[in-house]
Amino acid sequence: MKLLTGKTALITGASRGIGAATARLFGAQGAAVAVNYASSEQAANEVVQEIVASGGKATAVKADVSDPVQIREMVMKTAGELGDIDILVLNAGFNFPTVPFLQYQWEDFEKKLNNEMRSAFFCCQEVLPKMIEKKAGCIVAVSSGLSRQPGPGFVAHSSAKSALDAFAKSLALELGPNGIRINVVAPGLTETDATAHMPAEIKQMMAEHSPLRRNAQPEDIAGAILMMASDQAQFITGTYLPVSGGAQMI
Ligand SMILES: NC(=O)c1ccc[n+]([C@@H]2O[C@H](COP(=O)([O-])OP(=O)(O)OC[C@H]3O[C@@H](n4cnc5c(N)ncnc54)[C@H](OP(=O)(O)O)[C@@H]3O)[C@@H](O)[C@H]2O)c1
Repeated sequence: MKLLTGKTALITGASRGIGAATARLFGAQGAAVAVNYASSEQAANEVVQEIVASGGKATAVKADVSDPVQIREMVMKTAGELGDIDILVLNAGFNFPTVPFLQYQWEDFEKKLNNEMRSAFFCCQEVLPKMIEKKAGCIVAVSSGLSRQPGPGFVAHSSAKSALDAFAKSLALELGPNGIRINVVAPGLTETDATAHMPAEIKQMMAEHSPLRRNAQPEDIAGAILMMASDQAQFITGTYLPVSGGAQMI
């Protein structure tokens, strides 16, 4: 039995990494998938083609999800082509400098916080009215283990993801009576383009210190997002799920 048959899902930042793995998994589980991207059109189209070739339904949607106007157009295009959105995955990854606090420029710090929260705020404001109307819906916010356990150089990322965690909990509280669930999935170190620059010896050290003795692949995170998005999690809302092979235990 497929877990997402009949559902329409919008995944931000789904051309690469965790978002792309989630799109493929959702497509295989029967969802009609909107694959959002900012600039990687070819990569997004490849994800769509893979889903369609496997018998699924998907479309690529270009939008910079820090821009409210583009978010509105993305949601309208998705609804027009695939139907009203049942599942929103807030996944797009915004770049940030990894430098000590005293070297941080306010503009870089502000940009990271702004991008993360503008994306969450406006995507949710666009999809929620229909979810409220249907008295059903599900939002999964992709945070980071660093929102609760800081790392050197990650002050902007940790602060932005902590804000996202609080935002998700607030919405879970407010929208639960409308049948809408909001949960956070918090990946540990995951092998994607975003971490490709990290020295191999640091990655190896992190893997060796993890109870499951490896770092995550995008598919590991996609599995957790699927679990939270499916009706198997129908009584779970407002939670924070670390997906780190046990590296983060809360
Ligand atoms: N990798 C890790 O170790 C790790 C750990 C914890 C949390 N996370 C979180 O997991 C999420 C995905 O990370 P990832 O590692 O999979 O990243 P990634 O491989 O670098 O991919 C980033 C994705 O976000 C999209 N994106 C970037 N800016 C965008 C914008 N303004 N509008 C729309 N889409 C945009 C990119 O689209 P284009 O291809 O078009 O640029 C791409 O699809 C992020 O929220 C990240 O913070 C990652």
